[in-house]
Amino acid sequence: MTDHATYLDAKRALDDRSLNREVLDRFASELPPEPEILEVGAGTATMVERFGEWDVIEGGRWVAVDAHEEALAAGEARVGDAVGDIDVEYRVADAFEFASDAAAGGRRFDAVVGCAFFDVVDAAPAVDALAEVAPLAYAPITYDGETRFAPPDPDEEAVVDRYHRHMREYRPGGPDGAAALAREATVIAQGPSPWVIEPPYESGERTVLAHLLDTVEGAVGETGFDASDWAARRRRALEAGRLRYEAANRDLLVRLD
Ligand SMILES: C[S@@+](CC[C@H](N)C(=O)[O-])C[C@H]1O[C@@H](n2cnc3c(N)ncnc32)[C@H](O)[C@@H]1O
Repeated sequence: MTDHATYLDAKRALDDRSLNREVLDRFASELPPEPEILEVGAGTATMVERFGEWDVIEGGRWVAVDAHEEALAAGEARVGDAVGDIDVEYRVADAFEFASDAAAGGRRFDAVVGCAFFDVVDAAPAVDALAEVAPLAYAPITYDGETRFAPPDPDEEAVVDRYHRHMREYRPGGPDGAAALAREATVIAQGPSPWVIEPPYESGERTVLAHLLDTVEGAVGETGFDASDWAARRRRALEAGRLRYEAANRDLLVRLD
């Protein structure tokens, strides 16, 4: 299994091309010139780098919080304490405990950013907790209930069905993370941000696909369905450069208060 930080770095180019630019532009237009941003589930800190490189913001302060110490440490080692004029802080913590402590200390942010985050948490308490520290949340690459692999496979439907069942049982966000966030907060802007990987694979895409196959096989196995034959066929297709993958995601910009 690919480690978490390697997977997050490998998916960066995929996120770059999948992000919905209209939603991102709208987010940028809502920010003051030098915003204070709280990033929840920051992983390896690719988002602050992207914001600097794409001139989404030109200065300010970015606090990157993640419970996964190694991923955040890898981000800190790569990015350092600033991206251009954006100062970056790293905090290994539960995002909601961090937000609650920040609120208790009277600290406020202009916005929360959570990429591929709001589908792994329970939307209602997440919105309540984060509303204490910021008026706005940008939630790109939020899973929107669809995964497809090709070429056709006899077990595909059962596997995807069990994968979603696993999300419902074990992942607070479930497979409908985007819809749940849209229900719990006031949507200012939203748009699709599908992940599509097709041969010939670009840099990092084999790593992403291998990680996703491991993830799906493991999750489906926990529901009591043996997906090892499906996974073996999918790995052979990946090896042969024939595996295609598509997932529906949604980028949301929401008002928290
Ligand atoms: C799918 S990863 C996305 C990482 C990064 N935003 C990206 O897109 O590359 C989700 C991240 O959220 C973090 N996470 C999940 N729940 C968390 C929580 N309650 N507090 C802090 N981090 C959390 C995980 O450790 C993981 O790194």
